[in-house]
Amino acid sequence: MTAVRAALRRHLEQARARTEVLTAIPEAELVAQHSPLMSPLVWDLAHIANQEERWLVRVAGRRAAVRGDIDDLYDAFRHPRASRTGLPLLDPEAARGYARAVRELTWQVLDRSAFDDELTREGFVFAMVAQHEQQHGETMLATHQLRQGPPLLDAPEAPRVATPPAVDRVRISAGEFEMGTSTDPWALDNERSAHTVFVPEFELDTAPVTNRCYLEFVEDGGYDRRELWSEAGWAHRIEAGLQAPQFWHRDPESGWKRTAFGRTAPIHPDEPVVHVCFHEAEAFARWAGGRLPTEIEWEKAARWDPATGRSRRYPWGDEDPGPEHANLGQRHLGPAVVGAYPCGASPLGVHQLIGDVWEWTSSPFVGYAGFRAFPYREYSEVFFGDGHRVLRGGSFGTGDIACRGTFRNWDLPVRRQIFAGLRVAYGTGDV
Ligand code: AVJ
Ligand code: FE
Repeated sequence: MTAVRAALRRHLEQARARTEVLTAIPEAELVAQHSPLMSPLVWDLAHIANQEERWLVRVAGRRAAVRGDIDDLYDAFRHPRASRTGLPLLDPEAARGYARAVRELTWQVLDRSAFDDELTREGFVFAMVAQHEQQHGETMLATHQLRQGPPLLDAPEAPRVATPPAVDRVRISAGEFEMGTSTDPWALDNERSAHTVFVPEFELDTAPVTNRCYLEFVEDGGYDRRELWSEAGWAHRIEAGLQAPQFWHRDPESGWKRTAFGRTAPIHPDEPVVHVCFHEAEAFARWAGGRLPTEIEWEKAARWDPATGRSRRYPWGDEDPGPEHANLGQRHLGPAVVGAYPCGASPLGVHQLIGDVWEWTSSPFVGYAGFRAFPYREYSEVFFGDGHRVLRGGSFGTGDIACRGTFRNWDLPVRRQIFAGLRVAYGTGDV
């Protein structure tokens, strides 16, 4: 248990260090509404602390509330994101003080927890809270991307040295594999339970779609070819006036540029495309002669080891992600070129399934057979249904414990402020 406790302490500290970087900006920037899609950053900060207070201090620690009076303000279901600047929120100093006060109590609860009930077993609820903070770290990074103005964040450029995949596509043979998990102690409710799925043969690109390929689609009139788009996709394409990924601009003199975190630069042809919505991803895949993978196919590609038939935690095996495996954790403020992480490839040679960009799948977000909401319905269950699509694999903005082979993200098919791209599959996909 001491090792688990030490690991949890480290994950909580690392998540907080990142939160501090993302919020170490002028007060006016913290309280501003940078986009109607996002909360003011000062809301995320106090919401992170409020979730920690609820689950660790009050529930796991059975202690009195630090602030019993602000739960409503920081309940994501109570107030839409676009309305949050109008609420009597804690100001930046108060929010930071609140987060520090909660964290002091968290350390006491963590030190004393016997990890002896369903909520705390193997440290689950502490890891859930650390993952929650990392998830908001990615949300806050998306807010930074939407913000106008001079850069506030800096990071070393993502790796440019590449050992590209040996082939463009691989065939994944028909057969069963174990999807989901019953044993990963920190997996969230929607990743449970492990179940066997038969997957017909399919082919999958060994790399995410690059800017080079996506630009070919744009220049081939992909955005004007009705037949490439679904009915809902075309309606959205027209209504939103989509013409290229979000944050791309065409300079009549110097060609295509993209703006990332306040910096404008030429589009790098070998980086995975990012900031496309589900509808754009679907149209691109059709143009490329394929389709989006189902989340079942994606997970088989990421976890199934053909040598043993076993499902592993990550494409490279069971070890936790390190900097050699994947572009995760906001070490860089963008995706790395294709082939930058040969050590992270799957046994069949599929690269960059984890990190760089989230990958849209064709699957609606629903619970696995026997799904049970734990510990709260509002994490996953209230989003189940046809409205959302599943994304897999995490991005450069995703925290390292908020991502694994079983992890399921979801969003509306029109959203593209998230760090999402795609990978193309081929075959009937009749699963
Ligand atoms: C899993 C990324 C869809 O941001 O809506 C944060 C994560 N849930 N706080 C979201 C989450 C509650 C969630 N996603
Ligand atoms: Fe949240």
